[in-house]
Order: sequence, then structure tokens, then C-alpha cells
Amino acid sequence: MSAYLITNVSVVGGPPTDLLIRDGVVAEVADDLSAPDATVVDGTGLVALPGLVDLHTHLREPGREDAETVESGSRAAALGGYTAVCAMANTSPVADTAGVVEQVWRLGREAGLVDVQPIGAVTVGLAGERLAELGAMADSAARVRIFSDDGHCVADPKLMRRALEYVKAFDGIIAQHAEEPRLTEGAQMHEGEVSTRLGLIGWPAVAEEAIIARDVLLAEHVGSRLHVCHVSTAGSVEVLRQAKARGVRVTAEVTPHHLLLTDERAETYDPVFKVNPPLRTAADIAALRAALADGVIDIIATDHAPHAVEDKECEWAYARPGMLGLETALSIALDVLGPEWDLIAERMSRTPARIAGLTGHGVDPAPGVPANLTVVDPAARRTIEPAELASRSRNTPYARMTLPGRIVATFLRGEPTVLDGKAVK
Ligand code: DOR
Repeated sequence: MSAYLITNVSVVGGPPTDLLIRDGVVAEVADDLSAPDATVVDGTGLVALPGLVDLHTHLREPGREDAETVESGSRAAALGGYTAVCAMANTSPVADTAGVVEQVWRLGREAGLVDVQPIGAVTVGLAGERLAELGAMADSAARVRIFSDDGHCVADPKLMRRALEYVKAFDGIIAQHAEEPRLTEGAQMHEGEVSTRLGLIGWPAVAEEAIIARDVLLAEHVGSRLHVCHVSTAGSVEVLRQAKARGVRVTAEVTPHHLLLTDERAETYDPVFKVNPPLRTAADIAALRAALADGVIDIIATDHAPHAVEDKECEWAYARPGMLGLETALSIALDVLGPEWDLIAERMSRTPARIAGLTGHGVDPAPGVPANLTVVDPAARRTIEPAELASRSRNTPYARMTLPGRIVATFLRGEPTVLDGKAVK
């Protein structure tokens, strides 16, 4: 195994020091290290973070390999500073059996760029009618612990209750896409002033808030773990704040795009800004940012949702919802939070790793810990060119925007997946 010496690097915002990686682990963190056999990476001005962990990634394989594969999505993740991602279940076929989750898990191992932890579907075919084989997926080689019908809400309260009861036995998590479907029929964007002006059917905030309110009560009743995907409204934050204050076992995520972009982007009619849940208002963004800072929202998750050109570059009404996220998430976090390295490590690495139970991830670089880490240049600025992204898809909402920060290197168990800002394989 190879050795790497990162010199003069700040570990999670601390004073500059040297960091030696050897045999898959962080061997030493100290000043003036020397290791003649090691490849030297000049870390001057750079920050080392525990490798980022994404709890919400769409990798599209099996089924839509034209939009993304486990390998291309893994490469995008590594370039974004990630060492582990949780792959959502809305593939084709749906990841609702042990066979499909094992396939995704195995493809992740073969790609070897990040650890790919499959999420299993809650219901068969995401149809919301019958529970999927949750136990078989949990017992499979993929050891699934998080289940989600993301893209669809588990709208039936009885089914949601059963799912929460079922996973309690192995301390599993139901990750809910909170959207009351009756309230969003035909919806195209956030319901508000802009939707009224554009004449588009709106997606009311209450469609999200009503499901979160219901589900925190169900989770409290059952005593199970609930995770809320892509929280997007100020009202949802208040529901979560109250639930957490009562001790409900609920965690929540926010996406980079919901922290930055408002519903006014729909005025362009550019479908790259169509997403589920929709972009909301500046007041929602302010509430989400505050909740991220005070911990009511636990993590940033990308909801990386690659879509092929024909599914995205069409009329707004026909375009699929979703945006790329893996290769830009850290830059958006830096833009939104500033160089708050401890908070960034907490929200993008330590806490998501803890929620997903990914041992060896989300641990700050220190002697003896697995060398899953990323090295960031906070002073760099880069202009996003969709054609230069590693994802197979091009639907980034940040095209030609100049964003702060650049991932210089990423290490997975001591081996670089990214060096000099470029993918190693
Ligand atoms: O915008 C979204 N796209 N939201 C989801 O919940 C699903 C995702 C997708 O799979 O494209």
C-alpha cells in the first residue's frame, strides 16, 4: 500500500500540520513529519476534512445508465469530496429486493471510488401499496438500514406505521419524501406569488409540512427512527423543532439547492430549476439556514438527481424534477456557511455517517482512523462548466456560476480517488 504525506494542512480548520497516510489509515498527525517513501502533497492553504458522506444520491443504475451509472456517480462523488454515498431506491427495477440492493452494492465495490450503501424501497415498486422485502434487504450482503420511496411519498398512514414498526427490530430508518400527493396534483413549482404570476400550478408548503407532522407523530407512537428527506420550508423546520424538543427520533436533511436558490428561478422557464420539492422563497431559505446552524436540520444531503437531456431539456411541464449535486455541494456549503469547517464536517460528514451507521466514515483525521478524507482549497474559485462534470448528466443549476472552493484530493481507505483535483481512475 502507498503512503502520502500531506504537509502544512489545516485539519478541520485547525493550525497547519503534517498528515501521514499509510496502510489505509492516518498514521500520524504532527508537525515536521518526514516519510521518504511517501508521495508528498503540499497542503499549504488547504483544509483536510473527514470524507464527505451523502445520505441521498440517485445513481440511476440499474435502468437509466444513460443518465448515470454507479461508477460515473461514484466518480462525481469522489470529485466532490465524498467517500461514501447512500444510493436511492428509485432505479429500474426498483431496489425493493435483496437482489437489486446487492447488485448496486457490488457495482459500488467494483467501481471502488466511494463506499456505496444502497437504500431499499419501503414499498414494492414504490407503488405505496405493499411493504417491500425490508427484512431480506437488511439481511442481504448490502446490509440495508435505510428505506425510502424517495421521489414518492409513503402517503398511506397505515403503511407508514407498519414500515416504522418493521424496521424498529433492527434500528432501521424510514426516510420519507414528505409530499401529500393530493395537495400537489399537477403542481409545477412552489405555490406563491411567483407561481401566480407565471400561471403555473403551485406546490403548497403545507403538502410537505402535513406529512412531516403526521410522520413525527407516527414515529413517536412507534418509537422508531424517521429521517425527513430534502426539507424545504420554514413551516417544516418548526414542525421538526417541536418534535425534536419532545425527543422524537427524527433526523432531517436539506439540499444545497434549497439553501441557495429561490422560486424566482422558475421565471426563466429553464427546467434545470425544476425540482421536487420545489425551490422555495427567500424566507424559507433563511429558516433552513438557521435550522442547519442550530441543528434542527441535521445534515446537508445532495439529492443528486441526474437526468438525460431528453428528460430535462424540454418544456417545463414535461421535464423531470431534479438537479445534479455531488460535484458542487461543498462549494455551495462554503458559499452559504462560510469557512465554518467544524459545522461543515458535522453536517456533511460526521452526522450523515452516524445516521447511516457507516463505520470508518465521518471520523476526523487522527492517528489510527481509516484514511477516508478530503482536502479542500478554500481560496480557489471555479466556474462550473456542465461539460466538465464527471456525471453522465448535465443538469446542474450552477452552470457558468463561479463558486468558492475546490476539492484537491480525496482518499478512500488511504488510496487517492482524486489527486490534483482530478479523478485518479
Ligand atoms: O427532484 C427530485 N428528483 N426529487 C426527488 O425526490 C426524486 C429525484 C429524482 O429521482 O429525479
